[in-house]
Amino acid sequence: MANSNAQAQIELHRALAPRYAYRYGFEFSRLFQEDWHAEMISHAPPGSRAVLDIGCGTGFFLAELCQRLPGAVGLDISHDMLLVSEQYVPGARLVTGDAEQLPFQDGAFDVVFCKGSLHHTRDHVGFLSNCRRTLRAGGALVMSEPCNDNPLIRLARFVLYRKSPHFDEGDQGFTRRGIVGLCEQAGLRVERVKKYGFLAYVFAGFPDHLGVLKHVPGNAWITRAFLRIDRVVCALPGLSLLGFHVVVVARRA
Ligand SMILES: C[S@@+](CC[C@H](N)C(=O)[O-])C[C@H]1O[C@@H](n2cnc3c(N)ncnc32)[C@H](O)[C@@H]1O
Repeated sequence: MANSNAQAQIELHRALAPRYAYRYGFEFSRLFQEDWHAEMISHAPPGSRAVLDIGCGTGFFLAELCQRLPGAVGLDISHDMLLVSEQYVPGARLVTGDAEQLPFQDGAFDVVFCKGSLHHTRDHVGFLSNCRRTLRAGGALVMSEPCNDNPLIRLARFVLYRKSPHFDEGDQGFTRRGIVGLCEQAGLRVERVKKYGFLAYVFAGFPDHLGVLKHVPGNAWITRAFLRIDRVVCALPGLSLLGFHVVVVARRA
């Protein structure tokens, strides 16, 4: 964990850990996150037993994974984030470690999840190659990462990642084509790519950044409506450009 980005991410997420607990503290924001998690879990190969969540952070997704796929392991570079996980997944197997040097045996997992962690690292192909190595033959990597296909979203992220203290300047989003290329360079076979998140992502996903819905009566109902709209938007070829994230399912051949 000697590299400077790893150190910067540890420092960054030390300060962010309490914000994540707050982020997941509202019914409407939990509804959104649970929908996102259900989308990711739906791509796990049937019968998956050995499960890893890379960059599990404060463990909200890991808690759901453990309910559906008992024994899931969480790894994060930030010990401070993992300490918050105790709140959501008491007793889970949590590992403090760097995704760029995964401390697991080859072929140890049926499925590796990664929700929003790749873009915090610098050696993307190295990260993905490590994921591939820890998957059994035929195992799947399911990840969701910020998508910059839309020029306006790309610009907004460019500014946010540079100006906000909650990001590192070197963090970056991906284009659909770019992230597929990275997977292929790492020797993964990309099976599915789809967009995720538009209105619900913006208004319900991050009440610590954008808190408008907190003050609106019926915010859970509004979030459910946004989720329905988002599903339609992200499924339509032209409109899917509006998606804020890209979900990629890739297999170890
Ligand atoms: C955007 S947060 C997402 C956390 C969690 N997956 C969620 O959805 O709430 C990114 C997480 O990646 C972790 N991270 C960043 N770089 C990492 C690395 N090289 N290895 C492992 N985890 C890393 C951070 O500490 C942080 O917890």
